[in-house]
Amino acid sequence: MTQRDWQIENPGGSRRVVVTKELPGKRWLQLLTGADFRVEIAQGEDILTADEIMAAFAGRCDAVVGQLTESWSAETLGALAAAGASIYSQFAVGYDNVDVAAATRLRLPVGNTPGVLTETTAQLAVALTFAAARRIAEGDRMMRAGAYHGWLPSMLLGSLLYRGTLGIVGAGRIGAAYARMMVEGHKMDLVYYDVRPNEELEGYMADYADFLVVHGERPVTCRRAETLEELLRESGVVSIHAALTAETHHLIGAPELAAMKEEAVLVNASRGPLVDEAALVKHCRAHPRFRAGLDVYENEPATALGLAELDNVVLVPHLGSATTFTREGMATLAAANVAAILQGWPVWSAAAGLEDVRPFLSGEAPQAAPSIVNADELGLPRYNEHARAKEDQQ
Ligand code: DGY
Repeated sequence: MTQRDWQIENPGGSRRVVVTKELPGKRWLQLLTGADFRVEIAQGEDILTADEIMAAFAGRCDAVVGQLTESWSAETLGALAAAGASIYSQFAVGYDNVDVAAATRLRLPVGNTPGVLTETTAQLAVALTFAAARRIAEGDRMMRAGAYHGWLPSMLLGSLLYRGTLGIVGAGRIGAAYARMMVEGHKMDLVYYDVRPNEELEGYMADYADFLVVHGERPVTCRRAETLEELLRESGVVSIHAALTAETHHLIGAPELAAMKEEAVLVNASRGPLVDEAALVKHCRAHPRFRAGLDVYENEPATALGLAELDNVVLVPHLGSATTFTREGMATLAAANVAAILQGWPVWSAAAGLEDVRPFLSGEAPQAAPSIVNADELGLPRYNEHARAKEDQQ
């Protein structure tokens, strides 16, 4: 085990919070030290192993702010609960690396950071879509290699997505934001596949279709596909926005790729294991006009053998949420979750109709935890119910 350096803030603080990576911005730290917590921040870029994490919070620890790159298994969470912690707070919206069922059994709230990544991640998926469709990375490599010897009529021809068909797999917050960006920008017909209908998205698309008609243009269409195969067969672009679960693991494998159009674009800015990466390598090799834009990988940071050699694939290193606004916002929300739970405050969050987390990002933050994923299972009080009970008492 390598010796880690730790930055200690407010050493005499009343509660101990371990933060497994340095986080951007200042507000998150102010929230924690302002509540008189001692904050210990791991230094360096290496991903902490489960043993290192457990060694870090051994003894007494009240809360951990952890990362999606770490394994928060039943064992690690059990050790955290045994150290006296009241919350595990994840610096991410996704939490497939966290055994939430185990945390719930241990009566440990699990925090996450929704609401600040939606547009940012959707925007990265749009960027990957066009980088793949319009062969941006190939063009960039050609320029850098000095291989551009003059304009040619048939050089690096890509796909015009305008007025084509867009398929989104998973129409939650990020999927819907991506769909709006693509449909409004490029007037694509939308097909989505989701276990639940997204009525808000369908209504939005219907309004947009009316708007186009008013402007003398052909309307766009929007519908929910009955099956994934139907979406794959019809779409020129397929973008994945589903959560990773046992059911969605390898949702896109060899048969699904075979169902897609010869010149389709596949985008994944969700979680790597949703796509069978070895099958994707094989498919891209055999179908050079098929293209993929990937932000996430099955075994990050590694990529499947042969993936990086393919010209028809654009690869970026899990940059979905990588804007200053979003990463600072995620840090703030992760810290606000800790501050609230350790001070016994109720839970804000979408389930209580409080979707908008902006009040936490500047000014005086609400006295609430922005998002606790197992709040219902743990029976934690909700902010608006709590506020109502307080008003009733007065
Ligand atoms: C998340 O928050 O789940 C993202 O993957 C980080 O970019």
